[in-house]
Amino acid sequence: MTDLIWLNGEIIPMADARIGVEDRGFQFADGVYEVIRLYNARPFTLNEHLARLHQSAQAIGLSIPLPIDQLSREIHKLIDQSNAKEAMVYLQLTRGIAPRNHQFPDHPRPTLLFYTRPLPPLPAPGQSTGVKLCCVPDERWKCCWIKSIALLPNILAKNHAIAHGFDEAAFVEGGLVSECSSSNLFAIFGNTLLTHPAGPRVLPGITRAALLDLAPQAGLQIDERPLRESEIPHADELFITSTTREISWVSHFNQHPFPPHCGQKTLKLHQLLREQIIAMTGAR
Ligand SMILES: Cc1ncc(COP(=O)(O)O)c(C=O)c1O
Repeated sequence: MTDLIWLNGEIIPMADARIGVEDRGFQFADGVYEVIRLYNARPFTLNEHLARLHQSAQAIGLSIPLPIDQLSREIHKLIDQSNAKEAMVYLQLTRGIAPRNHQFPDHPRPTLLFYTRPLPPLPAPGQSTGVKLCCVPDERWKCCWIKSIALLPNILAKNHAIAHGFDEAAFVEGGLVSECSSSNLFAIFGNTLLTHPAGPRVLPGITRAALLDLAPQAGLQIDERPLRESEIPHADELFITSTTREISWVSHFNQHPFPPHCGQKTLKLHQLLREQIIAMTGAR
């Protein structure tokens, strides 16, 4: 893989990339981002990621500086030139450089960049070790559907979880669990797949959407509602999802241990997701 970056219309070596000190992304976290996974050098659900980017940008009054179809072609060009195969694309859009002022600049010149980073191949469905989740108070804003680069509450929550021997933090407010620091949360009760609705408290995850589409094929009906922290230990299966992890089954929720293996319905959903990834990317 060659270490390149697409920065404001040019593909250059990563080592030559410079972002101004007064970039509003740097000073105010005034921007949005996407993470797209590549399998076999092909981006999975790229259109869905770009549609979410458009929504996030629009929500903060920012325009993507090139049409989506052209952006898609530029992303493919960078992937080719970087020779990226099993990797992710990190894309960030900020309101660009302007003298530091809370008020938006009159004529913003957004900073758009993206680059690839290799990712280790994921274990086969059901072969990974379970993830340990702990609850943390949700101290984020109420626009979690915007994929904002302002991630400090998520970072603090994740590090709190790790410092206490867990892997991932689940956000709780008023006894209701919404999602995790960088993943969506699902519970299975009988033949029902439950997850919190996307919106103020939950990012509309691309993996989440793919699974909601696949659930009927796994014989599961969907119930989008907030989960009570107190009911989660009674779930038959619990798992989290994201672009980089696909599906991870949960082995512990706070101090509660689940059976020490991936549940059958989670496994089925993961197999269906893998089939879709293979069909869309030619991945092995
Ligand atoms: C807070 C949060 N929720 C959910 C997700 C999962 O979203 P996706 O499946 O689009 O990666 C992420 C991914 O980064 C996230 O940061």
